[in-house]
Amino acid sequence: MLIISEVNSVKRQVRKAVFPVAGLGTRFLPATKASPKEMLPIVDKPLIQYGVEEAVAAGVETLIFIIGRTKNAIADHFDKAYELEVELETRGKADLLEIVRNIVPPKVECVYVRQAEALGLGHAVLCARPVVGNEPFAVILADDLIEEDPSEGGALSQMTRYFNKYQCSILGVERVPKSETQKYGIVHPLPFATRLSNVDGIVEKPKPENAPSNLAVVGRYILTSRIFDLLENTPRGAGNEIQLTDGIAALLNEEQVLAYEFSGRRHDCGSKLGYLVATVEYGLRHPELGDRFRAYLQTLTGHLGGAGLPAED
Ligand code: G1P
Repeated sequence: MLIISEVNSVKRQVRKAVFPVAGLGTRFLPATKASPKEMLPIVDKPLIQYGVEEAVAAGVETLIFIIGRTKNAIADHFDKAYELEVELETRGKADLLEIVRNIVPPKVECVYVRQAEALGLGHAVLCARPVVGNEPFAVILADDLIEEDPSEGGALSQMTRYFNKYQCSILGVERVPKSETQKYGIVHPLPFATRLSNVDGIVEKPKPENAPSNLAVVGRYILTSRIFDLLENTPRGAGNEIQLTDGIAALLNEEQVLAYEFSGRRHDCGSKLGYLVATVEYGLRHPELGDRFRAYLQTLTGHLGGAGLPAED
């Protein structure tokens, strides 16, 4: 078994984040026919922008987008839009101009890597190797939208604090109903501190009866660059895809890997119901719309029976 070690002479930091955005997004067709699902908006910002803001807040300086078939939308979103800026300036829309200009801070660099074939999440991450090199890096799945905890910060900021302390790979995890283990990578945890475990095993999408726990990996990873060598040799797994989970299973035989139960509510925006719930929650908190939206929802509650969120197929 691997020894839990704290590293005091901290040298390595997480400066790069990988955003796999080449998936087919079939659950949201036809909305995702010409644009990736990560461009779907929650109120007025696309999902990918929430993920990018979380990464930048955690100290990330290089954003690596692994793009696919619908390649232009994300690059256009993070690129400078001269014509739009001139138009907003001419119309005296200073507030909107500010929003459009500051989508990414000037010191942050965007890099786009084409994933020619959709061979799975592990393959998408491997495509980032030439840009990441020999550094620790984050992976953010932007369709897992995680609310920022006002006192602890975003999920990735919380994880980078532990990375700085332990200098090893860290998986962001959340407890899910046992009946839903088949939707996630599930870890076998050996807890050693509040919300922190050593990962002893990990399985992609196990049936509830085979799941090692109900702690699911939900779209936030910090990985050491050793994962790339292991992904090179990872055969196709669940769904006939090269799974990141299988690469991590090989990694934890060689290195310490931690699971961290982050603080902050997660919305599964890869599902229609999760996406709608996130839209309502973010709408209610929106500085301009929140009060009016709440008043509108209150007019509905009279004819809406029941409570709670039913499971989605
Ligand atoms: C992917 C990963 C899975 C992880 C999940 C989190 O699955 O393969 O391990 O738990 O993201 O959202 P997907 O949702 O792409 O099927």
